[in-house]
Amino acid sequence: MKGPGEFVLEDQARPVPREGEVLLKVLRVGVCGTDLHAFEGTQPFFTYPRILGHELAVEVAEIPAAARGAAAGFKEGDVVSVLPYLRCGSCISCRQGKPNCCTTLKCLGVHVDGGMREYIALPAFYLVPAGKVGAEDISIVECFSIGFHGVRRANPRPGEAALVVGAGPIGIGVIHGLKERGAKVIVMDISGERLAYARDIARADYIINAKTTDAEKAVADLTGGENPPTVFDATGNAAQMMKAFNLVSSGGTVVFVGLVRADISFQDPLLHAKEITLMASRNATKEDFAHVIAGMESGRVNTKGFVTHTAAMEETIGEFASWTKPETRCMKAVVKIA
Ligand SMILES: NC(=O)c1ccc[n+]([C@@H]2O[C@H](COP(=O)([O-])OP(=O)(O)OC[C@H]3O[C@@H](n4cnc5c(N)ncnc54)[C@H](O)[C@@H]3O)[C@@H](O)[C@H]2O)c1
Ligand SMILES: [Zn+2]
Ligand SMILES: [Zn+2]
Repeated sequence: MKGPGEFVLEDQARPVPREGEVLLKVLRVGVCGTDLHAFEGTQPFFTYPRILGHELAVEVAEIPAAARGAAAGFKEGDVVSVLPYLRCGSCISCRQGKPNCCTTLKCLGVHVDGGMREYIALPAFYLVPAGKVGAEDISIVECFSIGFHGVRRANPRPGEAALVVGAGPIGIGVIHGLKERGAKVIVMDISGERLAYARDIARADYIINAKTTDAEKAVADLTGGENPPTVFDATGNAAQMMKAFNLVSSGGTVVFVGLVRADISFQDPLLHAKEITLMASRNATKEDFAHVIAGMESGRVNTKGFVTHTAAMEETIGEFASWTKPETRCMKAVVKIA
């Protein structure tokens, strides 16, 4: 991507792995909101030119002798997932086991060149085994891991009610993460189509269309007037995020998985009266990736119909713009490389 709206397909030399790096053949690349905003030129801090691609399914092409130790457990030909968040390994977050919010974190395809190319070389550390999961599903592991991470932070108890506001790709990941933990999942959105997907495929227990019903009343009614102990925002809509405190139970937890570049405000008495815990959730870790992959392998995390659009690299240039348009009804687009 040379600049907003401007893709080119060009030949580059095959990357040569540096010390500790492995060479990866890229199979599939998922496209998400970040990529679409970069294309529209509405992603602040995004710099061009940039090779996009952080949702990767790759095949291990070459493990040089210098990377054998770091790549223990992997062999050439393995089809794997990639943790795309390059971390420093020594800052305070990294030392506390939170590389997902490394103080100098660089995400592939955002801050440094990513995977929309035939080969990429990366330190072996970033490989995540994907078992028997196929390449297309591997390309959506990162997307679902974002939701699984938010769920792991909130740590809901089995059988408890949890509310997910927003059933886009990120919200669907949250729902799958909650179902893996045995939660009773209530989903709220303003799109009937996305709510139907949440119920039929992601196994949401209840759906609420906030466009046609009094959503706050519906949430209260479903929980005996008490509201759910955990509420996840996956809309990134500031006005909706500010309503999250109304939707959570007393003593409950609100997790902002959705993010917005704006001020969020709330009334302190509401926060205090309910003694609410407010959490942000950023990116994901290898542990979250492993949980998503295990769920996919078992079949519990059903990916049916999640990928709505696929295109080869050559076709992507012409089709990319259409994926940003609501009428395309794109849930997830995936670029086929090899
Ligand atoms: N935490 C992270 O690391 C991380 C990573 C990726 C994306 N995100 C954020 O997650 C959010 C969701 O991403 P996405 O790709 O699923 O976006 P999306 O726009 O595809 O989905 C958002 C969903 O929320 C629904 N929605 C919007 N306003 C609503 C309202 N007022 N009430 C109910 N539903 C409403 C929409 O209908 C849509 O289905 C974004 O803010 C994105 O930036 C966070
Ligand atoms: Zn993404
Ligand atoms: Zn760090």
